[in-house]
Amino acid sequence: MTAAPTAGQAALGERYGSPDDHAGLSGPWNDVIASQLAHRSVRSYLPDPVPDATLTTLVAAAQSAPTSSNLQLWSVLAVRDRERLARLATFAGNQKHVAKAPVLLVWLADLARARQIASDHSGDTAGAEYLESTVVAVVDAALAAQNALVAAESLGLGTCYIGALRNAPVEVAAELGLPEGVFAVFGLVVGHPDPAVETHVKPRLPQAPCCTTRRTTSTARPRTCTATRSASAASTTASGWRTAGCSGWRRASGAWRACAGARSSARPCTTSASRCAERRG
Ligand SMILES: Cc1cc2nc3c(=O)[nH]c(=O)nc-3n(C[C@H](O)[C@H](O)[C@H](O)COP(=O)(O)O)c2cc1C
Repeated sequence: MTAAPTAGQAALGERYGSPDDHAGLSGPWNDVIASQLAHRSVRSYLPDPVPDATLTTLVAAAQSAPTSSNLQLWSVLAVRDRERLARLATFAGNQKHVAKAPVLLVWLADLARARQIASDHSGDTAGAEYLESTVVAVVDAALAAQNALVAAESLGLGTCYIGALRNAPVEVAAELGLPEGVFAVFGLVVGHPDPAVETHVKPRLPQAPCCTTRRTTSTARPRTCTATRSASAASTTASGWRTAGCSGWRRASGAWRACAGARSSARPCTTSASRCAERRG
């Protein structure tokens, strides 16, 4: 692992849009991180197929993702049938890249297999009815899918998640013949990007200067910063974001920016990196 070279700085600039928004990110750099920072969703593909052997590799990458208690409460279906893809596209708001997908991987939260295994061994399946089990299955499926996405992009393939499959969960389940206890979390189109259609890295919110903002209520969106900078005391703002050391977000030039008050303060942030990490968790 090496310190971020020029290419790394350029990638950071592309991701955040402004050097101000990634100040201090001069840490380690490697090909995996380069690939992750270059991520962009792709919605136009060449008709070239994605071979089975490639899918096998992607699934191996997916299965290598962490999984809660090693329960592996997910499955994936590869859809290539054009008529089926057309129907799934209709359920997903007529998205053309679904209809034209070289392959659509449908990631499933799958409680049915675990139930079956437990019942085959006269085990208790009561836990499968808890909401927590559904959350575990959805998280497992998402982690697996993201591992597959990173693997696909490392091979030069393009991808696009299709959360819109959940617009019509019952119809999608019927189309895919899903048993009880299994539902589609999202699809992931995979294919060779069409080089004639340009794609761009989409910017993300800036990293807060000291990563101390923490959500404490149901108010989810960034807000105008009202908190005063204080390295010692945490404060709870009207919108429910608890802040300490550095504060939240402000709206400027049509974009959300880290609070200028925090950034431009004459006092340097005294929150140590380890405390920041604790708060972030
Ligand atoms: C769970 C999830 C569902 C998504 N659903 C769709 C979708 O239905 N259709 C689509 O075109 N993009 C979808 N996307 C892609 C997002 O629009 C995209 O990731 C976001 O705009 C950021 O762009 P980027 O991936 O190029 O960085 C989804 C992404 C995620 C994570």
